[in-house]
Amino acid sequence: MERNSRIFVAGHRGLVGSAIVRRLVEDGHSDLVLRGRDELDLTDQAAVRAFFDREKIDYVLLAAAKVGGILANERFGGDFIRDNLLIQTNVIDAAWRAGVKKLLFLGSSCLYPKFAEQPLKEEALLTGPPEPSNKPYAIAKIAGITLCQAYRRQYGFNAICAMPANLYGPGDHFDPEGSHAVPGMIRRFHDAKMEGAPSVTLWGTGTPRREFLYVDDMADACLHLMDHYDGEDIINVGSGEDVPIGDLARTIRGVVGYEGALTQDLSKPDGHPRKLMDVSRLLATGWRPKVGLEEGLTRTYAWFLENAAPPVPRPAPGSVAGEAAE
Ligand SMILES: NC(=O)c1ccc[n+]([C@@H]2O[C@H](COP(=O)([O-])OP(=O)(O)OC[C@H]3O[C@@H](n4cnc5c(N)ncnc54)[C@H](OP(=O)(O)O)[C@@H]3O)[C@@H](O)[C@H]2O)c1
Repeated sequence: MERNSRIFVAGHRGLVGSAIVRRLVEDGHSDLVLRGRDELDLTDQAAVRAFFDREKIDYVLLAAAKVGGILANERFGGDFIRDNLLIQTNVIDAAWRAGVKKLLFLGSSCLYPKFAEQPLKEEALLTGPPEPSNKPYAIAKIAGITLCQAYRRQYGFNAICAMPANLYGPGDHFDPEGSHAVPGMIRRFHDAKMEGAPSVTLWGTGTPRREFLYVDDMADACLHLMDHYDGEDIINVGSGEDVPIGDLARTIRGVVGYEGALTQDLSKPDGHPRKLMDVSRLLATGWRPKVGLEEGLTRTYAWFLENAAPPVPRPAPGSVAGEAAE
C-alpha cells in the first residue's frame, strides 16, 4: 500500500480497526476512508455497493464484524450468523465489483475445531466442528474465508485471510461481565482496588493456557500481510506463546496495583487445557511480535484509566474519603 493509496478500514471504531487506523496514520497514510455504522450499515447491500462505486477505494481492511463472548453467542446466535454473513458478503463482493486491489478479511482462532491438535495449524480448519457455543459466529466466518478463497480462484480477486489469537489493548470492551479474559480481569481487579475488596476470585484452577496478542502487534501484522502476502491459504496471527490463566491474573493484579488476595472457585469449569496457534507460516514471512504481555497490559491499563474506567464516586456531603482521613 502506498502512502497515497485510498484505504477503507471497516470497523474503525472497534478494537482492531482503531489499532489499524492508529498505525496507518503513524505510517503517513493520508487517504483513509472511515465510516461509522451510523453512516454506513455494512449489512445493507445496496448502501455498501453505492459506497464502493462512489469512493474508488484501493485497499480494504475488513475489521467490522459482530463480535462477542460465549453468552452473547448463545443468546443472540441469529444476530451473529446473519450480521457476519451480511457484512462480509456485502463488503467482499462490492469491493471486488468496484475493482479494489486487495482486501484483508479477519477470521479467528475460535473457528478451529474444538478438539484440534495443539498448537493449531492452519490445516486444521474444517477438520471438525467448532466449539458449539460459538457455532453461528464460526460458521459465518468460515463462510467468509471460503468466499475470499473462491473469489480469488474464480475472479482473481486478491483477498487474504488472517486468523488472530485472543487480542487485547486500547479500545477493548471492559464490561465486568465480559468474557474476554484480559479486559474482564483488568476491570475486576480495578474495581476491587477502588472498592478496597479483600479478594478477587478466579474461575477454575488457573492452569489452562491461552495465547494473547497486543492489538498494535495485530495491526502491524495486518499491514505486513497487506504488503508481503498474497496467498489463498489462511494465516495465523499470534504471539506464538501461551500463558497459564493464573499467571495472567497475577500479572494483571501487579499491573493494576491491587494488593488483595487472588482466590480460586474450583466449582467453575476450566475449559480447554491449552489454546495456542502455530504461527510458523507468519514468521516465515519475516514478521515478529514486538510488545510483550506485561508491557501490553501496562499500556492497556493506562488506556483504560484514561478512557474507560468508571468515574470514582464523589464522597457524600459530610463524609470523608478513606485516604484523605488518614
Ligand atoms: N477481539 C479479539 O480478541 C479478536 C480475536 C480474533 C479475531 N477477531 C476479529 O477481528 C475483527 C474485529 O474485532 P474487534 O475485536 O475489533 O471487534 P469490535 O471491537 O467489536 O469492533 C467491531 C466493529 O465492527 C463494527 N460493525 C459491527 N456491525 C456493523 C455494521 N452492521 N455496519 C458497520 N459497522 C459494523 C462496529 O461498529 P460500532 O462501533 O458502530 O458497533 C465496530 O467498530 C472481527 O472480525 C473479529 O472476528 C477479534
